[in-house]
Amino acid sequence: MRRPLVAGNWKMNGSLSSVRDLLVAIKANITQVSRAEIVVCPPAIFLPETQSLLQDSPISWGGQDLSIYDSGAYTGEISGPMFQDFGCKYIIVGHSERRTYHKESNALVAEKFAAAVKFGLIPIFCVGETLEQRESGATEDIVAQQVDAVVEHGSISLLGQGVIAYEPVWAIGTGRTATPDQAQDVHNFIRQRIANYSQDVAQSVRILYGGSMKPGNAGELLAKADIDGGLIGGASLNAADFLAIGMAAN
Ligand code: 13P
Repeated sequence: MRRPLVAGNWKMNGSLSSVRDLLVAIKANITQVSRAEIVVCPPAIFLPETQSLLQDSPISWGGQDLSIYDSGAYTGEISGPMFQDFGCKYIIVGHSERRTYHKESNALVAEKFAAAVKFGLIPIFCVGETLEQRESGATEDIVAQQVDAVVEHGSISLLGQGVIAYEPVWAIGTGRTATPDQAQDVHNFIRQRIANYSQDVAQSVRILYGGSMKPGNAGELLAKADIDGGLIGGASLNAADFLAIGMAAN
């Protein structure tokens, strides 16, 4: 049985005081979420505060991106061991915003995936197509290339050590959610693709949906057979909405 996972990607939002408030509010009501694993990924600079507020709670936390190197002359970068120092369990890799704005290739994302695992972090590995790619019928090809890159760089067992997040780019921050059937089709495709390499990994790996997931649509998305949770952007900045999505995964 795959345990549902609901992760909040806070992106570049918040201040020290708003981050404190949000963490306190999530923690105060976390017992309402009985089954799903709950994770928050604040901007890295707020991880010390996150660790001190959440360390005695069932909530896990993580970063939004990491360097492929463990240390050295890489100005502005943060390494896996540094995330580990602040108690991170997860790390997002390959988010479409990084693929777009920072020109991260499938090969680089695969290296980041491997670096995360090397340093004991669980990658939340994002894949997904743009609107143009969907409309030209390329969704499966694009997602297959993204998934295969990790297997080719490492192995199927490397891929099995992460969590996959299917985030159609056209649904991120747009209020336009994939329908439950559209999402399930791609999730199922991803699982079948993985099954070509390993049935065990295909059955055990968690595949989250991300893209305008809200309390109002989470239930029907999470009810689908191959949707094991959510990677939440905007709605994760509101404690009540985020926890409502967590409860929908119960
Ligand atoms: P939204 O939930 O704001 O659409 O963002 C999704 C996302 O990008 C999570 O990583």
